[in-house]
Amino acid sequence: MRILLLTHAFNSLTQRLQAELQGRGHEVSIEFDIADSVAEEAVALFKPQLIVAPYLRRAIPESIWSRHVCLIVHPGIIGDRGPSALDWAIQGGEVEWGVTVLQAEAAMDAGPVWASAVFPLRCAKKSSIYRNEVTQAAATAVLQAVERFAAEDFAPMPLTACSAVQGRLRPLMKQSDRVIDWQRDDTATALRKVHAADGFPGVADTLFGEACHIFDAWPEAGLRGAPDARPGELLARRETAVLRKTRDGALWIGHAKRAGGIKLPVTLAFAAEAAALPEAPLADWWRVDGATWQDIGYEESDGAGFLHFEFYSGAMSTAQCERLRAALAWAKQRPVGVLVLMGGADFWSNGIHLNAIEAAGSPADESWNNINAMNNLARELIEAGSQITVAALAGNTGAGGCFLARAADLVWAREGVILNPHYKNMGNLYGSEYWTYLLPRRVGEASVGEKSRGIMRNRQPLTAQRAAATGFTDACLAGDARAFRIDVARRAAEIAAAPDLAARLAAKRERRAEDEAIKPLAAYREEELAHMRRNFYGFDPSYHVARHHFVRKSLASWTPRHLARHRDLGWQVPA
Ligand code: COA
Repeated sequence: MRILLLTHAFNSLTQRLQAELQGRGHEVSIEFDIADSVAEEAVALFKPQLIVAPYLRRAIPESIWSRHVCLIVHPGIIGDRGPSALDWAIQGGEVEWGVTVLQAEAAMDAGPVWASAVFPLRCAKKSSIYRNEVTQAAATAVLQAVERFAAEDFAPMPLTACSAVQGRLRPLMKQSDRVIDWQRDDTATALRKVHAADGFPGVADTLFGEACHIFDAWPEAGLRGAPDARPGELLARRETAVLRKTRDGALWIGHAKRAGGIKLPVTLAFAAEAAALPEAPLADWWRVDGATWQDIGYEESDGAGFLHFEFYSGAMSTAQCERLRAALAWAKQRPVGVLVLMGGADFWSNGIHLNAIEAAGSPADESWNNINAMNNLARELIEAGSQITVAALAGNTGAGGCFLARAADLVWAREGVILNPHYKNMGNLYGSEYWTYLLPRRVGEASVGEKSRGIMRNRQPLTAQRAAATGFTDACLAGDARAFRIDVARRAAEIAAAPDLAARLAAKRERRAEDEAIKPLAAYREEELAHMRRNFYGFDPSYHVARHHFVRKSLASWTPRHLARHRDLGWQVPA
């Protein structure tokens, strides 16, 4: 079928649906919802048999839904309606939630139901629920709805006739619904409120006496310091987060957005103020499971080491790269045969920290510092000679993060993960992280240049299955997050216990030495950085413009040509 995805943005859910539908042989094109006339033009050009709207912020015009079947993905259970579906479910402490695929009609979210799926609702950030449970349920329900539509014998169920209706119409959640009363709300309530507003719009609050929006909360199991502090008071700082007292405990707050500013780690958004708080460092890199805020944590089992790095949004600032490199260098000294880089639960890495760069006095200098810190980290990984290294991708990964992962000997991705192994979307960035060394080794020696260039140029997301099929990754593992961790640990233990480990490590060191003799890593780096220097300091400001729009979330004014296939020159509806 020809399926048009009409969407507000090419977010991870839209990327997943595009990949799933294309994987089933459908012809998919994408149009951003910019204006009614633009959407009408896309429909006229592409002549879709079906329109799917994964992520819209406004209604589809009647001129379209009255003539074409339009399937809306609503992140709520059957009968739930309104623009804050997940926010209400998380804040209200629902234990089960779902996704409904319904047909667009005049009343928002009230059309007949084509398919639905439910899931247990974790206590987690809205953005995490969206990228995991909602995305999985949406993929299941959309594929079922598409099959039903193709079969031509399915009658979608009007809401009034659905026996499963449990939801109801709820209004837009306002900041007045989100207010945290630090004197009255307990830790669990405050946490739910921040979770329900993460990553957008955040909870309007104050920090250091200044109005701001807060994001990214973590509970603290053992309250540190200041036993006499009042609820709401800030107690301590650790790396990028600050600790705030609640009525019955304390919460770490990781990110804040000051009025007119962009979302930043709290210790960057309020640098001077946060520096005055007492520091509450952790003793070492060992993982303190869930009991406190910890962005980098290490654990071991069965001869394998596991390095977790839970960086918000997967963005890695200069300081975060430097700390992770230090942790990696320490882990390399541990008596383990395998070292697994676990990344975070929602993202493995999305490369350099564009928000921190934007906020710096000289974004060009900070870009330069950040890419060099990323490169130092990548080199630390490439040069690990005493362990087989693995990047285990439980969450999405993009741009430099993909090539950092590729610096490991093996890359295993969880089914459902989306990879974006290219830099060009960020104002034609050339990219570094030794990709010119790492990528050709992976995607076939015979056609090295061509295939590598293809991956970088196509700018298309890869599903975990596709990434394994192209050779970019080594395996696509279980889709369930827990099953993935178990599978990763089992495979790592097997490699660590295998009789050929020593021979494997010797071969790895030999290959590295040979590669180094042919062309040193430093030469790859120098060449890549020569391009990056032009991107950061040259006369073409594309990267700085693209970064500005990305961090400020500027509305799109056109759909990129590589997504809107119906706008290709010479595109014709197949006969
Ligand atoms: N720096 C800072 N913030 C980043 C980031 C980065 N490198 N990558 C992602 N983010 C932020 C987004 O702004 C968004 O923030 P929000 O929660 O405040 O809206 C959040 O992380 C999630 O990103 P989003 O784009 O919504 O996620 P996605 O899963 O739909 O898309 C990508 C994933 C990788 C396609 C997309 O985030 C992207 O293009 N990132 C930039 C990658 C890049 O160019 N890095 C620099 C070159 S190495």
